[in-house]
Amino acid sequence: MRAGQLVAFPTETVYGLGGDATNERAVAEIFAVKNRPRFNPLIVHVPGLAEAEALAVFDARARRVVARFWPGPLTLVLQRRGDSGLSLLASAGLDTVAIRVPAHEVAQALLRETGRPLAAPSANRSGRVSPTEAAHVSGELGDRVALVIDGGRTTVGLESTVLDLSGDPPALLRPGGVTVEQLTEFLGTIAAPAGGLPKSPGMLPSHYAPSLPLRLEAVEARPDEALLAFGPDALPGFAEVLWLSRSGDLAEAAANLFAMLRRLDRPTFAGIAVMPIPERGLGRAINDRLRRAAAPRSGDEG
Ligand code: TXA
Ligand code: MG
Repeated sequence: MRAGQLVAFPTETVYGLGGDATNERAVAEIFAVKNRPRFNPLIVHVPGLAEAEALAVFDARARRVVARFWPGPLTLVLQRRGDSGLSLLASAGLDTVAIRVPAHEVAQALLRETGRPLAAPSANRSGRVSPTEAAHVSGELGDRVALVIDGGRTTVGLESTVLDLSGDPPALLRPGGVTVEQLTEFLGTIAAPAGGLPKSPGMLPSHYAPSLPLRLEAVEARPDEALLAFGPDALPGFAEVLWLSRSGDLAEAAANLFAMLRRLDRPTFAGIAVMPIPERGLGRAINDRLRRAAAPRSGDEG
């Protein structure tokens, strides 16, 4: 990685496609490997607050948030420091930067050993389902990276929450592993992203998409479809059923979501149906990903 090569590594959310965030060539290679539009900035990972403070401006509010939620599945968008040394491409030319301190011990060890901030988007092709196992990465990008570090299945299973603290009030740019309820309880009012220009291009309508069409809030069967079930009573009559969570546990459902979407994404089925998921806690992030996975595909999304 110090020589500018790319390494895929596990975090507690999803696997990341990592490269030295201070190396313009490495960052350009990340965009190329993912086929990611260059207007969609990357998250920069560091091992702790001290390393983060060399890259971005932290005020008292940001420090309070960090003390509560780092390390963990929360990414903060902050003003980038002029002397950060970060690749401009990593932030897609914005004067802000998205920073995260992952909790996963392999990610922590890698960040400390390389001694560099690592830009790492999810290790999948742009617009497709994020990887939660090393095999997902080697299957999709294996020939394009120097190494895939296998840390087993990720525990959270959904990407980090992206919270913009560069303005007031804080703005939620992407729901994720830290829930909106947790953030609101801690910070008070949180703004939804302003309309117009996509501030967080991960918020573009079509994303996280399997090849098969997805049918949400399914309440009746179609025999040529596979079903992602939630709760004890799966709808009868589908060709195959996988349970996101039999007990209706949202954390378990989040951890299973992407791997199960990949397992059912086979041409034997006409589509994938998903039973309704409650819109609270991690359910909001699950439904966000499902809605994007089901959205019409324009072919050029981030
Ligand atoms: O859980 C995660 O966050 C994973 C793991 C690998 O850490 N990473 C990840 O990265 O999901 P990526 O690149 O797939 O998502 C980055 C998100 C995108 O929605 C992007 O638009 C947003 O963060 N983002 C990055 N920099 C930004 C900035 N300066 N302002 C606003 N949004 C930003
Ligand atoms: Mg992604």
